Amino acid sequence: MQLPTLNIGKLHAKLPFVQGGMAIRLSLSKLAGAVAREGGIGLIAATALPLDELRREIRAARKLAPEGIIGINIMVAASSFAETVKTAIEEKIDLVVAGAGFSRDVFDWCKEAATEFVPIVSSAKLARIAERLGASAVIVEGAEAGGHLGTSRSVKDIVPEVLAAVKIPVIGAGAIVNGYDVAAMLRLGAAGVQIGSRFAASTESAASDVMKEAYVRASKPEDIIIIQSTVGLPAQAIRTPFSEAILQDTVPRPTVCTNCLKHCTRRFCLSQALIRAQQGDGETGLIFAGSNMLRIPSILPVKDIVAKMVTEAQAVRSYLPWRELLPQVPRWTGKLRSMPIRQIAVERVALTWEDTCSALADTRAELADKRAEIREKRRGLVAKRAAVWKRVHARIGAWKQAMVKGEEPLGTIG
Ligand SMILES: Cc1cc2nc3c(=O)[nH]c(=O)nc-3n(C[C@H](O)[C@H](O)[C@H](O)COP(=O)(O)O)c2cc1C
Repeated sequence: MQLPTLNIGKLHAKLPFVQGGMAIRLSLSKLAGAVAREGGIGLIAATALPLDELRREIRAARKLAPEGIIGINIMVAASSFAETVKTAIEEKIDLVVAGAGFSRDVFDWCKEAATEFVPIVSSAKLARIAERLGASAVIVEGAEAGGHLGTSRSVKDIVPEVLAAVKIPVIGAGAIVNGYDVAAMLRLGAAGVQIGSRFAASTESAASDVMKEAYVRASKPEDIIIIQSTVGLPAQAIRTPFSEAILQDTVPRPTVCTNCLKHCTRRFCLSQALIRAQQGDGETGLIFAGSNMLRIPSILPVKDIVAKMVTEAQAVRSYLPWRELLPQVPRWTGKLRSMPIRQIAVERVALTWEDTCSALADTRAELADKRAEIREKRRGLVAKRAAVWKRVHARIGAWKQAMVKGEEPLGTIG
């Protein structure tokens, strides 16, 4: 079964994949262009990029994917937020994605330029406000995501709430590392997924080799930690000597400051720490990563990552109609036996324990509802039958009495 296209305003991406913007200088033209060329949406991380560099990157990405969809991602918390968005609009960017904060002005700038604007939100309330202000779609980021976090709740819990609150497309972000995760998010009702960590660990990502090694090495839950970032939000990162020092509050305070953030706690210099990691300093660099970086075992080219995700997602999605039939197929084990072995094998791998449990719970709940409905109907019928018989007996009784007394019968029975 084909994956759905992702429609954001006038943009139609062949695949429902958005490559998350990753600052500083992790997602540049090479990565964004590669994802766009494969049919997804590529985002250039514009935070902290000088404006002439941003222009060059947008043009280079366009060259790599002339037919593809290219956007920018920018942190609202950045001091250069307005100039950066306006520069990208001048370069005829397809869409602007903004996270780490909420700006009302950007809606007007994008509306005037007919550029799609997609804010990153972590609650139904913010999604509703964004829709009212004119957002073309919303990206819902959960606590699993890499980088700055706006919530401690799972994306799987927030997406259904946002879907109930807005009509614009909802894109889920956090913990999407393979096609099975994609299928699960689409099954929740999301129109697409935003993927960060998996693409950070790609050949085309501009992360240093040191960063990529750290991504592959991360394999235990304790390798990923949450620090307090200087923008005033928690952020998810790989455990390194530097992120440990942030946790212990032993990082020396910065002596120079370029005021790159609108509000900064100045406990350390966020942009310098990110730049150091991007340039290969694993000791004093800060390496953002999602909680599911643990499930990413190797660095692969974008083409292979996308192809694998599509195959896996399609295998799961093709299985769904069968699963949805479950409540109506009483002897489903017989059905299972007749399924091709390969498909069963694929599905066994595809279904996470959680998925299986929730499907079974849904089925059980539906069956219980159906049983209750049938019981209710049966009770109604029994009561009706009893009432009819009561009336019949009363009539027979009255008729018998009338016969005994030699009176005229009282009409028909019934
Ligand atoms: C290394 C890294 C850097 C990131 N930088 C940014 C950023 O600059 N702006 C932003 O909005 N999100 C940023 N994110 C979040 C991603 O765009 C994406 O939403 C998130 O990583 C999704 O979760 P996942 O990593 O589990 O796929 C970053 C994530 C990572 C891993």
